Amino acid sequence: MIRIGPYTLESNVVLAPMAGVTDRPFRVLAKSFGAGLAASEMITSDVRLWTTKKTRSRMNHEGEPEPRVVQLAGADPEALAEAARRNIDLGAQIIDINMGCPAKKVCNRLCGSALLTDEALVGRILERVVSASSVPVTLKTRTGFSRDARNGARIAQLAESCGIAALAVHGRTREDFYDGDAEYETIREIRSRVRIPLFANGDIDSPQKARSVLDFTGASGVMLGRIAHGSPWVFRDVNYFLSHAKNAPALPLRKICDTILAHLESLYEFYGEETGIRVARKHLGWYFGKLQDAPDVRRELMAAESSSTQFELTKESLERLVDAEATVATWGGIATCAEDSTCSGSGTERWGDVHDGENFTDQERLRSQRRA
Ligand SMILES: Cc1cc2nc3c(=O)[nH]c(=O)nc-3n(C[C@H](O)[C@H](O)[C@H](O)COP(=O)(O)O)c2cc1C
Repeated sequence: MIRIGPYTLESNVVLAPMAGVTDRPFRVLAKSFGAGLAASEMITSDVRLWTTKKTRSRMNHEGEPEPRVVQLAGADPEALAEAARRNIDLGAQIIDINMGCPAKKVCNRLCGSALLTDEALVGRILERVVSASSVPVTLKTRTGFSRDARNGARIAQLAESCGIAALAVHGRTREDFYDGDAEYETIREIRSRVRIPLFANGDIDSPQKARSVLDFTGASGVMLGRIAHGSPWVFRDVNYFLSHAKNAPALPLRKICDTILAHLESLYEFYGEETGIRVARKHLGWYFGKLQDAPDVRRELMAAESSSTQFELTKESLERLVDAEATVATWGGIATCAEDSTCSGSGTERWGDVHDGENFTDQERLRSQRRA
């Protein structure tokens, strides 16, 4: 089991921070399916920008299960330390520092992965944030700035010596952006140089791949990003595979439908009507993209202008899928409604040691009952 400061993670499979994706509703959803950690979208260390609605929503952790991780991006040690202190006051239980983001908007200001070009500055930032924080500080980084300058191992050693509690490494350099395949050799090298918990990240797109990356790199855990888009249940399937060396039983299609609807409800509640509909469109695009045999209603869904229309249209389409005994490919196999046990909703209890998102859908059902 992985320990980060006082926290023992329930799983070594964690959700990657993703701006525009890992908002509070998605973090709660991923955790309900067994993600061991789920960091916030990055928050700038420039407190002058914290007045925007977007940043305020990123700092909202109401009802979020522990440990609550807040990711900070910035380049000024003092500003980052102050931002860490303020977020701890607002409920952050782990502070994560972003040295992995390749985005121009971030890198031009020497933040994110651009920091990897200045190891002395990296050291000052880490020391300052660690000493200012009453909670564990973790670091997310890449294997280096460029292929000619893969300094990920030196950065990791520096991080450990500064008191960083855990490290996540995306197996690409800044220069690679998201191109090519993630390389795990450097992550393996990093593993051999540091003792703190290490999460391997990049291109892990199945339970089998998670197993092989763990075996190859010797990492303590894996961090999943894009594969969770439209598949928050991937944590359940990877957890199961890692502990049983076989695929999890298929998640019932009814459960998948309930999860999607509950996710919509939580987005409307978190963001309000207008933004809620907009954010939901992105997730619906991913969900419907992954549902085999789903009716092609994406255009209508994208055009829906009220949450009630969007919700009802989604519900109707999903009901049609269930009625048609459609199939949905999950890593646990094909989810179907054909088997009576899987449609009853009681099937999930059999897996016992896997998180099936029960709390998430139950919570949302209660909320919508209250609203009704
Ligand atoms: C839409 C999107 C937004 C991202 N935002 C962040 C971010 O805010 N902070 C960060 O450290 N990494 C961010 N990343 C990088 C991911 O955390 C992860 O390192 C990367 O996607 C590789 O993992 P994957 O192959 O499992 O997706 C983002 C990635 C995506 C696709």
